[in-house]
Order: sequence, then structure tokens, then C-alpha cells
Amino acid sequence: MKKTILVTGGTGYIGSHACVELLNSGYHVIIVDNLSNSQKDVLARIEKITQNSVVFYENDIRDKWALQTIFKSHSIDAVIHFAGLKAVGESCEQPLKYYQNNVYGTLVLTEVMEEYNVKNIVFSSSATVYGDSDKVPYTEDLPIQATNPYGQTKAMVEQILQDYAASDQFTKHDSTWKIVLLRYFNPTGAHKSGLIGEKPNGIPNNLIPYVSQVASGELKELSVFGGDYPTTDGTGIRDYIHVVDLAKGHVKAVEMLSNAPLEKGGCKVYNLGTGTGYSVLEIIQAFEAASGKKVPYKIVPRRSGDIATCIASTSLAKQELNWETEKELEEMMVDTWRWQNSEAMT
Ligand SMILES: NC(=O)c1ccc[n+]([C@@H]2O[C@H](COP(=O)([O-])OP(=O)(O)OC[C@H]3O[C@@H](n4cnc5c(N)ncnc54)[C@H](O)[C@@H]3O)[C@@H](O)[C@H]2O)c1
Repeated sequence: MKKTILVTGGTGYIGSHACVELLNSGYHVIIVDNLSNSQKDVLARIEKITQNSVVFYENDIRDKWALQTIFKSHSIDAVIHFAGLKAVGESCEQPLKYYQNNVYGTLVLTEVMEEYNVKNIVFSSSATVYGDSDKVPYTEDLPIQATNPYGQTKAMVEQILQDYAASDQFTKHDSTWKIVLLRYFNPTGAHKSGLIGEKPNGIPNNLIPYVSQVASGELKELSVFGGDYPTTDGTGIRDYIHVVDLAKGHVKAVEMLSNAPLEKGGCKVYNLGTGTGYSVLEIIQAFEAASGKKVPYKIVPRRSGDIATCIASTSLAKQELNWETEKELEEMMVDTWRWQNSEAMT
């Protein structure tokens, strides 16, 4: 029988790609999203790509009554929890907004899950929880040391969920929590249909959407923060992962919720990255090759809080989640450029 997955934040960038992969893998999908950072037309696009329908609720996950109504109306097998705010800079200016949305939102969601005895959850965490560790590549057992309020919300939610899983040892519950925490590195690219992708609100916070808008002429030039890092060309190195590979990692995580090593409950943590890093200058070069456009840039001083190199160790996800990336940098750039020029973006 088809399983039903509730996807919070499912009209957003990563959530929409995950919905496509879930539908393509035979799951029923219910989306709850307050559309604070996405548009409703994404639903029709997901349906067009998959030739399948999704159920949509325009609600905030902090609205307990609305969530109870959803859980009452459907038999939900698992939740993938993407809904959250994600801008590091904004989180430094407005930390309360971030703790309210990301931490309180998760508390309300998990309270309702417990009430309806749905204790299977995959959570969107981030490599940002590793802070500025210099032990590259990052393995999942590194200490958590987030350096900004956004990262703190991810670290707190991870801790809360780990405590839920641990609580099952102490109390006799009817069912146990099964939790997968996924730490994303740098998601990029878009679906090859050109129908869904990342639609930044205002000036992009992430490098590749910014580069893409410079290439299209919407932005004048790219400021490269720091040309004196201890890297091959002096610019920062990051592990970019194609959003479709990332989305497929969620399907694997959902499968794991009913299989070893989680069949008896617990909490597992996995990095989702490629294990390969590219510098800012390499990204510019690759984007120019994919788009045939020049990307003017200037090197400016380092930005506080940035680190030299951030690359995932991918062996645990490969071993236990049975997942690895398939898409290379060129495809990430080509797909981003196609999306940049799509009707949805213009
Ligand atoms: N994109 C990245 O670079 C990145 C990296 C690491 C982790 N993450 C995490 O992955 C998740 C998804 O990221 P994304 O890039 O798709 O972001 P996104 O902003 O495109 O998607 C998030 C979605 O959640 C919705 N949302 C936010 N708060 C909500 C609330 N209270 N109730 C209901 N809906 C709400 C938004 O409307 C949006 O559609 C986020 O939790 C983010 O922190 C993203």
C-alpha cells in the first residue's frame, strides 16, 4: 500500500524537489506550507512533472489546530520537515523570529505528531551546525558548534529530536520515535524540466543564485569575500550538491524509517553532500562555461563568520542510507542557468 508523507515546507526550493522524488517513488504527498517563502503555482508544477496530484494545506506549522485537523483527516506514515527560515544574516538581526519559527514550529509539529502517534520524522538540518571546525571533511561525529542564530535553531531542533528518541528507553511507549537528521551542504541547481528551482526573495544570499543573476545581467557584479584563504586559489571552498540528488536522499531517509538500523526506533544523522569542494573562482568559471556569459567579479575582504573550506564526509550516508550523489558540477550549473531563464523566473 502507498505510504503517505506529510511534507512541511513542500512548496519551497528543496521541499518541492523532494515532493517530485517522493511522488515518482510511489508515495502519497501532503504539503503544509504557509507560503512565506514560496508560491502556490509550485503545486501545479510538481503535478505537471510527476503527472500525480498532491494535497495542499496553506497553514503555518505553528497553528496547532490546523495541524491537528490535517492529522485527523489523513493517515500519515511519516513527516519530512523542511519548513523553516534559512537566512543567516537575517537570523543575526532578528533571532527571535528564527527561534519562534524554526524551534517553536518544530515543537508544535512534533507535539501534534505525538498526539496522533506519528513518530517518524526526517528533519532538514544543515552543515552550519559544524560551525568553523577545521577538521575537513566534516564527519557526523564532530562537535556541534553553530555560530549564528539560524545555525543554533538547527542545533537545538537536532537536540530536541535526539532527546525524543532517547526518551523511548526510559518510558514504555506504544511506539518509538524514528528520526533521521539530514545535514545539507550547499544545495544548488534545479529540476531539469525548468519548472521548479530556487526563487530567491530579493538579493540572493547564496553564491550560485547570485552568480546566475550576474550572468543574466540582473546584478552588476559579484563580490568575492576573501581572496586570501589557505585554499588553492585563495577563495572559499564549499561542497555543492545538486538539489535533485539531495531530494533523492530524502526518499532514502524515508525508506530507512521502516528498516534497519531504525526499525526499533532511534535517531540517525547523515551528511548530504558530494564530498568534493569547489572554490568561488571555480564556480564562476564553471558558470561562465555553462551559460556562455561573463560573470564580472571583484575580490573584497573576508566576511566575518565565513570559513575557508567546508566539505562533507559522505561515507556514512553511502554505507547506511545507501545513497550517493550522481550529478556533477556542470549539471548543477546548466540546470541553474536553464531555471534562471525559465518562464517561472522571468
Ligand atoms: N537551501 C539551503 O541552502 C539549505 C541548506 C541547509 C539547510 N536548509 C534547510 O532546508 C529547509 C528547506 O530549505 P529551502 O532552501 O527549501 O528553503 P525555502 O525557503 O525555499 O523553503 C522553506 C519553505 O517553508 C515554508 N515555511 C517557512 N516557515 C513556515 C512555517 N512556520 N509554516 C509553514 N511553512 C513555513 C516557506 O514558505 C517555504 O516554502 C529549511 O529548513 C532550511 O533551513 C537549506
